[in-house]
Amino acid sequence: MDKKPVLVSGIKPTGDLHIGNYFGAMRQLVELTKEGKYRPFIFVADYHALNTMQDAEEMRRRTRELVMAYIAVGLDPKEVVLFKQSDVPAHTELCWIFDTITDMPYLARAHAFKAEVDKLTDSMPARRFLSAKLEQLTNIGVGLFNYPMLMAADILLYDAEVVPVGQDQKQHIEIARDTAEKFNRVYKTEVFKLPEAHIMTDVAIVPGIDGRKMSKSYNNVIPLFGSHDDLKKAVMSIVTDSSGDRPENVYRIHRLFRSEVNLDALYDEHRGNYKALKETLIEDLDRYLAPMRAKYEELKENPDIVEEVLKAGKREARAVSEAKMEQVRKAIGVA
Ligand code: ADP
Ligand code: TRP
Repeated sequence: MDKKPVLVSGIKPTGDLHIGNYFGAMRQLVELTKEGKYRPFIFVADYHALNTMQDAEEMRRRTRELVMAYIAVGLDPKEVVLFKQSDVPAHTELCWIFDTITDMPYLARAHAFKAEVDKLTDSMPARRFLSAKLEQLTNIGVGLFNYPMLMAADILLYDAEVVPVGQDQKQHIEIARDTAEKFNRVYKTEVFKLPEAHIMTDVAIVPGIDGRKMSKSYNNVIPLFGSHDDLKKAVMSIVTDSSGDRPENVYRIHRLFRSEVNLDALYDEHRGNYKALKETLIEDLDRYLAPMRAKYEELKENPDIVEEVLKAGKREARAVSEAKMEQVRKAIGVA
């Protein structure tokens, strides 16, 4: 029996990956799973993505790309159970069971739902609005409302103790804890373990080429698997502010690849010569990203590898989650 604490994390297959995703999330996950301290289950949260992505071809492509990306940046499929959420029916089954012990006002306090309601109501408090004008929430899917229950199932099925996520997901982990406690209390059992969030805090916000947070929605990204030319194009369009004598936007991205001391010397040497500094950044980026890009390209050429990885992940995740579901079904009296 493997007694290592279980680590679970899910990643939605939405958006082309950029270096902000890598330095802000992917790298930490790869490092955590490399330590050998945990038994990691990492999955593509395709059913979560269904709330916002309703194009079958896009779903298929992005799912594949995400799996290739994680392997390319260093996730080792031999050490990690890597799978698709939709391949493991226990996730949605358990979600339903959780739905039946959860009340609506509790879920209405979830941040993601409140944010959507706020968009529709221009800041009227979500709960007041909810009771008054439910019929106006037509853009908000039941799936979005229920999102935290599916996520609780994702986590609790595997007895996860550690759940690495960004700060924005903290509340979801608390909901998973509450739900585990509630189930255990309602059914007078110890079926579920209480998970802890592992917030990836030491992560700086990676700035985009316009100085704002790098984000696919701002069109200001440096692509993670871009060619040398793509990198060059992105870096050359970094907005340089000429007020100081250091191009801050270039410097802040450059900081990801070199120590401050080293960088300060370089920026002193090329003071005012933005072109030379950008060229150095292109070379640094390219050197850093080239091995990942090569691995990604190799996986693209060998689609069977991704298939095999997902097949093995599915087998393992199904076995573990099904064992848990047997306990659950017994506890609720359907088995
Ligand atoms: P985007 O902002 O491009 O839509 P997502 O919201 O899909 O990116 O983010 C996926 C993961 O990458 C999240 O964990 C998020 O915290 C991280 N991330 C995204 N952009 C950045 C950034 N500029 N700096 C640091 N982390 C980021
Ligand atoms: N909601 C998470 C996000 O948007 C993705 C996710 C789904 C997840 N299920 C999970 C993360 C379970 C950790 C554990 O980033």
